[in-house]
Amino acid sequence: MRAALLVAPKTPVAVTDVDLRGPRAGEVLVRIAACGVCHSDLSVVDGSFPSALPVVLGHEAAGVVEDVGAGVTSVAPGDQVMLCPLPSCGQCYFCSRNQPTLCSVYSASLFSSLLPDGTSPLSRNGEIVYRGLATAGWAEQAIMPEVAVVRIDPDVPLDVACVIGCAVQTGVGAVLNTAQVEEGATVMIFGAGGIGIAVTQGARLAAASRVIVVDPVAERRSMALGFGATDVIDPGTDDPVTASYELTGGIGVDYAFEAAGQAALLEAGINAVRPGGTVVGVGAPPIDQGISIPGVVGFTATEKKLIGCLLGTVHAQRDIPKLVALWQAGRLDLEGMITHRMPLEQTEDALDLMRRREGLRTVLTVGS
Ligand SMILES: NC(=O)c1ccc[n+]([C@@H]2O[C@H](COP(=O)([O-])OP(=O)(O)OC[C@H]3O[C@@H](n4cnc5c(N)ncnc54)[C@H](O)[C@@H]3O)[C@@H](O)[C@H]2O)c1
Ligand SMILES: [Zn+2]
Ligand SMILES: [Zn+2]
Repeated sequence: MRAALLVAPKTPVAVTDVDLRGPRAGEVLVRIAACGVCHSDLSVVDGSFPSALPVVLGHEAAGVVEDVGAGVTSVAPGDQVMLCPLPSCGQCYFCSRNQPTLCSVYSASLFSSLLPDGTSPLSRNGEIVYRGLATAGWAEQAIMPEVAVVRIDPDVPLDVACVIGCAVQTGVGAVLNTAQVEEGATVMIFGAGGIGIAVTQGARLAAASRVIVVDPVAERRSMALGFGATDVIDPGTDDPVTASYELTGGIGVDYAFEAAGQAALLEAGINAVRPGGTVVGVGAPPIDQGISIPGVVGFTATEKKLIGCLLGTVHAQRDIPKLVALWQAGRLDLEGMITHRMPLEQTEDALDLMRRREGLRTVLTVGS
């Protein structure tokens, strides 16, 4: 089959032929219809995240079941499905404590780019090809464990729904699952890319009273206003921390979300939230960046909270149908997030759009 392959960091992703074995017991073979491009893919391509190589990236995918292995009961050939980069086994230490994104089976799989059994279904000329971010969706087909596919209604357009697979479940989940923002809360969001816009939509769903979005790109600030931002800040001209106090009567926002992938913005978030406020790290800064909290006793004495967020603390089998239903009810705008559609051959062009911060989300229309 054709797949967009990364052979070495800082080299172009190129479409080539790779081999994919058939589904084994408990696995599903999916024909990919569409797959979005996320900054986490770009970070691997540009070398700011290490990854096993060569690798097929793409983890925001939807498709149609083509074949199932022995014992698969929840889906059948012909079903439309969302692919989940991070499902949960339901049985490990973390799953049994209701922390599905920390599942020891599937979080390991996400970072190793291998199936839970330690192998990859992908190869080229007999050599292993890694299954990037536990999906490898920039390809015509993918092998997924049964628990990593969720059936969706046959009339849901897959080239729209695919953005739920990462951006939307991460951003909306950061608000509803990770932070559990309450009605009327004030929120600041750093970054208005696909993830930040999904956080903005989550804040609107949570009925936050003030949603302040920070982004240096004017086009993205104006898009944020259409997705529920009440205020936008250009960090090139206005200090977001000062704005947090000015826009909340001197108190500071209740929640700050870092969705740009820069460690310094976590520090800004800590300064922007009120005493008792919560900072959520959603963006994934380059591996060599860290933060410092000078006068950390002030952090302690003001009872601030700093929490990480992986894929929106999603419970895939519960949340993906919920997010599809919110879209069907007109309460979640997916179409508006997708500014470009391109064929698989143009994966590198799609990455270039993201590097230039043009548009918002690009969807690769693989099989549609
Ligand atoms: N935690 C998770 O599970 C998870 C899931 C998906 C993506 N991510 C990460 O989230 C981050 C965002 O991903 P994306 O796909 O939306 O990327 P993106 O490139 O589309 O958006 C990033 C945005 O940050 C903005 N930005 C840059 N500097 C800024 C600043 N100083 N202040 C405010 N905004 C600034 C950019 O203009 C851009 O609009 C990436 O780091 C990605 O790896 C994390
Ligand atoms: Zn992603
Ligand atoms: Zn588990």
